[in-house]
Amino acid sequence: MNDLADLLTPEGRALLDEVRGTAPADELAVATRLRREHPAELVSAALGQARLRQRAVAKFGAEDAQRMFFTPNGVEQSTRASVATYRAERLKAMGVASLADLCCGIGGDAIALARAGIRVLAVDRDPATAAVARANADALGLAELIEVREADVMEVDTSGYDAVFVDPARRGGRGRIFDPEAYSPPLSWAVEAARKASRAAALKVAPGIPHEAVPADAEAEWISDGGDVKEAVLWFGTEPGAVRATLLPGPRSLLGKGLPDPQVRPVGRYLYEPDGAVIRSHLVAEVAEEVGGGLIDATIAYITADEHHMTPYATAYEITDQLPFSVKKLKALLREREVGILTVKKRGSAVEPEELRRKVLPKPHGPNAATVFLTRVAGAPTMLLGHPC
Ligand SMILES: C[S@@+](CC[C@H](N)C(=O)[O-])C[C@H]1O[C@@H](n2cnc3c(N)ncnc32)[C@H](O)[C@@H]1O
Repeated sequence: MNDLADLLTPEGRALLDEVRGTAPADELAVATRLRREHPAELVSAALGQARLRQRAVAKFGAEDAQRMFFTPNGVEQSTRASVATYRAERLKAMGVASLADLCCGIGGDAIALARAGIRVLAVDRDPATAAVARANADALGLAELIEVREADVMEVDTSGYDAVFVDPARRGGRGRIFDPEAYSPPLSWAVEAARKASRAAALKVAPGIPHEAVPADAEAEWISDGGDVKEAVLWFGTEPGAVRATLLPGPRSLLGKGLPDPQVRPVGRYLYEPDGAVIRSHLVAEVAEEVGGGLIDATIAYITADEHHMTPYATAYEITDQLPFSVKKLKALLREREVGILTVKKRGSAVEPEELRRKVLPKPHGPNAATVFLTRVAGAPTMLLGHPC
């Protein structure tokens, strides 16, 4: 049975409507009832699709997710709408009107690109995935802007398009792939395809990509959404060598100035925890300059300053206490401060936060909240107690 083709029939669509929002606990009863009137395989396919749609809500929002189609891998590997929309708007602002989306998956990026008004050739070599991408273009009314082609991207002529976007598969049979040359297609192939693009190109890569692996003629951008780093993008046709950290929602973009590492200084009244995109892009010095601060340790990405400056690129905490690492001392301090809610953050410490919380707050009851940072200050294991500004 071809699940997708059957789900696209009038009977399949009616079943999808019927099983929408079915709670896992009710699945068996719903399946038993529906199997009296519909083929068992179709009922299973509809329930499976409903489950995937629910998983996809976090990435695509309920409205789109409930109309789209997914495969298990497709939902996992797709770009979330917030990030895809940000990239699509950036391409649009660069004057891109047509683009080859090489490795389109179920169409997460193609959808955002088309919604930005860009004509898209969406290519995937996996037949089931390409069929889902096509169904999604139809379901969202974007079929006129998205042409889906089932092919190996290495054999596609992209010369008729302004731009190229490549999102290589970074998961193999044994899980995540970290070596960019083991991506499918390999990063070096994607870089060559990007260099041939007439106006611009963007390559989505893992946020852990080493800075040395970024080609000299590319801009590297790290993107976070809601504080979680989602991806890095190598841009061609922008400013070669530029480094950028972009925070969503927003977007707020911090451009690297090539500053040297910040000075290490004693812990001041405030501690700033930079966003993950700032840390991955190595732009901590730019944020330290903005808030007039320095590092608490040469190897730790916590900034400290005497004054509070609002910045979107870091979360500021007012520090009330600094003590050498000691579970006993922390426990006594929390009791004295009547702390009942403790957030544990760590950088440069092997301590397990949950375990520490259990030890220092065995019976939480105080009315106050606090944050403790387990870290190193000038090389020494240290605890900093404070609260968000
Ligand atoms: C990370 S997913 C793309 C996700 C997509 N950007 C989205 O948002 O839905 C990578 C896709 O690349 C496809 N792929 C891998 N190697 C390919 C190749 N050589 N030619 C065409 N497609 C390929 C896989 O089938 C997979 O669907």
